[in-house]
Amino acid sequence: MSRAERKMDHIQYALSTGQSAGALFDDVRIIHQALPNLGVEDISIHTETGDLKLESPVFINAMTGGGGSQTEKLNGMLARAAKETGIAMAVGSQMAAIKDANERASYEIVRKENPHGFIMGNLGSEATVQQARDAVEMIGANALQIHLNVIQELTMPEGDRDFKGALERIAEIAENLHVPVIVKETGFGISREAAEKLAGTQIAAIDVSGYGGTNFAAIENERRARKLSYFQEWGVPTAAAIIEAKEAFPKTVLASGGIRGAQDMIKAFILGANAAGLAGSFLKMAVEHGESRLVSEIESLTEDLQMMMTALGAKSIAELENCPVIITGELHHYLAMRGYE
Ligand code: FNR
Repeated sequence: MSRAERKMDHIQYALSTGQSAGALFDDVRIIHQALPNLGVEDISIHTETGDLKLESPVFINAMTGGGGSQTEKLNGMLARAAKETGIAMAVGSQMAAIKDANERASYEIVRKENPHGFIMGNLGSEATVQQARDAVEMIGANALQIHLNVIQELTMPEGDRDFKGALERIAEIAENLHVPVIVKETGFGISREAAEKLAGTQIAAIDVSGYGGTNFAAIENERRARKLSYFQEWGVPTAAAIIEAKEAFPKTVLASGGIRGAQDMIKAFILGANAAGLAGSFLKMAVEHGESRLVSEIESLTEDLQMMMTALGAKSIAELENCPVIITGELHHYLAMRGYE
């Protein structure tokens, strides 16, 4: 199977495998504040966090590229929606285009459609410093995501089997790149132990991309005869991953993995995340309902964030961190077993 066919398979299976409640945001209960003392017009969702300056705390997370004209069309749609709504966007892994210049168009379209927007490049942790520089240069990236995807690779029949040296390569890239480096998972989450290791590097942010949304073990299992079913319920639920990463990593923490809407985002921000990304559900919206519906959904998300921030008396995303919540159910149990109060 060609790389392009595999990318289209991923998109198809991502659309059909769907979302679960496994990110555990339902176990976070927001405490109502009857005297918020501000109005909707006082709210600013502009998000300046460390080296990342974002107009909005919502972003389109890494998905496609390198799959020929279909991924070019999809990336074009996502890029125009990002431009119209002023949100940031990541492209999918650029390794295909670094190895084969014919693949570049499906990435370059993103910068062409959105010349001044905040765009993140994307590579795996096998990348060298030079490949990281090439990826940034290819699309004039404002930041570079380095993804960790051990479980996906292991479940993929043709995937990698050797994961040595990833942290060292990430550290070297972060030291030598002129744009901020974000390390992200791909739906299995970042634990406290992994975040502690990353804290020793110069990366600017961690995107926890936890369990509970798009599930690449399920997607890859669809493509193989002998299923590695044990990886399908593997991973740190996103709500727990935010708390774990936040404790061990002193800079920016981004939330993704199973974020279903503005309420999950508000909960993620209260738990300590500074911005939140959606991949699978934005893809689904774009493919099934088209570009204008994606734009109106992003606009609704933004409006919903402003409504809830007003109700909570938080003028900015950063102020949400002071809002009290109650943690119940499985998330409470999970955090207690991990040594949190
Ligand atoms: C992804 N994701 C991804 N991540 C990455 O860093 N590089 C990549 O190339 C891809 N490719 C990709 C393709 C498709 C079709 C999907 C749906 C996702 C992972 C993505 O960025 C995110 O981490 C997970 O999908 C979890 O978020 P959601 O989908 O639950 O919002």
